[in-house]
Amino acid sequence: MSTILAVETSCDETAAAVIVDGQVIRSNVVASQIEIHRRYGGVFPEVASRQHILAIGPVIQDAMTQARVAWNDLDAIAVTYGPGLAGSLLVGVNAAKGIALALGRPLIGINHLEGHLYSNWLRTDGEPPLPRFPAVCLIASGGHTELVLVRDHLDYEVLGRTQDDAAGEVFDKVARLLDLGYPGGPAIERAAERGDASAFDLPRARLRGTWDFSFSGLKTAVLRIVQRYTDGIQKPADALDTPRSTFALPVADLAASFQMAVVDILVEKTCQAAERYNVAEILLAGGVSANSRLRHEMALRAQRPVRVPPLWLCTDNAAMIGAAAHYHLLAGRVDDLDLDILPNLQL
Ligand code: KG4
Ligand code: ZN
Repeated sequence: MSTILAVETSCDETAAAVIVDGQVIRSNVVASQIEIHRRYGGVFPEVASRQHILAIGPVIQDAMTQARVAWNDLDAIAVTYGPGLAGSLLVGVNAAKGIALALGRPLIGINHLEGHLYSNWLRTDGEPPLPRFPAVCLIASGGHTELVLVRDHLDYEVLGRTQDDAAGEVFDKVARLLDLGYPGGPAIERAAERGDASAFDLPRARLRGTWDFSFSGLKTAVLRIVQRYTDGIQKPADALDTPRSTFALPVADLAASFQMAVVDILVEKTCQAAERYNVAEILLAGGVSANSRLRHEMALRAQRPVRVPPLWLCTDNAAMIGAAAHYHLLAGRVDDLDLDILPNLQL
C-alpha cells in the first residue's frame, strides 16, 4: 500500500493530488491559470510562476482535506521536476521538498511525460484491468509529441518525437491564425464541428523510415491559405477594406481540415508502431488526447485495443504524477532533498 501526495507545476496549472497504490484518486485539485494567460494568447512564464506561488499552499491543503488523509499517513511526496518552465517547476519542487523534510518522508521526482503516460493507470470508474505490456503510448501535449514503447513499468524506449512543433503547439498556433483564441486545441475542435474536413487538401508529413513527426509544413500550409484570403486574392473586389474578422475566411472548414491532417499523422504512425512491436495495447496521453476526433479515429483504425484516459486526466494534473511515483517507490527509486529541476528533461 502506498499513499502519495503529488504536486505538479510544470506549466500553467497548479495541481496537487493524493493517490493510493498508483490507482485510486483520493483527491485531484487543479487550479488553472487559463483565464490569466488568455489575454496574452499563451503562457507567460513570469506570470505563471507568480501564480504558482500564490496557489500552491491552498491547492496542496485542499488536496489533503478532500482526501481525508493525515499528513503522517503519507508514504512519499512526488513532484514534477521537468520538463517545463524553470520558474514554474521550482515552485512545486520547493514546496514538495519542504513537506518531505518536515514529515521525514521520501521525495520522488517525476518526469512530466512519464506522468502523462501513467494517467492510463488511474482507476476512475469501477475496476477495469490495468494496461498490459508491451504497450505503445502516444504522448501528445503542448510541448511534446512522443511515441513511446513501454516494455514494462519504468522501462521505456522513445521510438520517435516531433522534429519541430509539438502537436498541441501547432493546434495553438493555427488557432491564433484563425482568430479562435487560447487554448487552441479545444477552440479548433469546436470550430471543426461545423466544418468539412475534406474542404482543404493539407499536407501530411509521413517521414518514412523514422517514427518521428513533423508539423511545420502543415502549419505553413494553413498560414498560406489564411494569407491568400486576407491578402485579398480571394476577396470580391469591393471587399478589400473589410476587416479580417468579418471577412469570409472559411474558418470551420479550415479548422476541420487541419484537425484531420494532424489526426491522420498521429494515428498512422501510432498504429504502424503498434503492429511493428506487436503490442498488447495502444495508450494515448497528454492534452491533445482530449481531442474527440483523435480518440475516434484511433479507436476506428487501430487493430489493437486503444486506451484513453478520461478528458480531465488528459490535460495537466497531479494525479498522474502520483500514479507514476507509486512505481518509483516500489522500485526503491527515490530522490534526495538536493533534487534539482531539469527544464529540458527527456523521457
Ligand atoms: O498536456 P497539456 O495539458 O500540457 C502540456 O504538458 O503541454 O497539453 C496542453 C495542450 C495545448 O496545446 C492544448 O491546445 C492541447 O493540449 N489540447 C487539445 C485539446 N485539449 C487540449 N488539442 C486538441 N484538441 C483538444 N480537445
Ligand atoms: Zn502536460
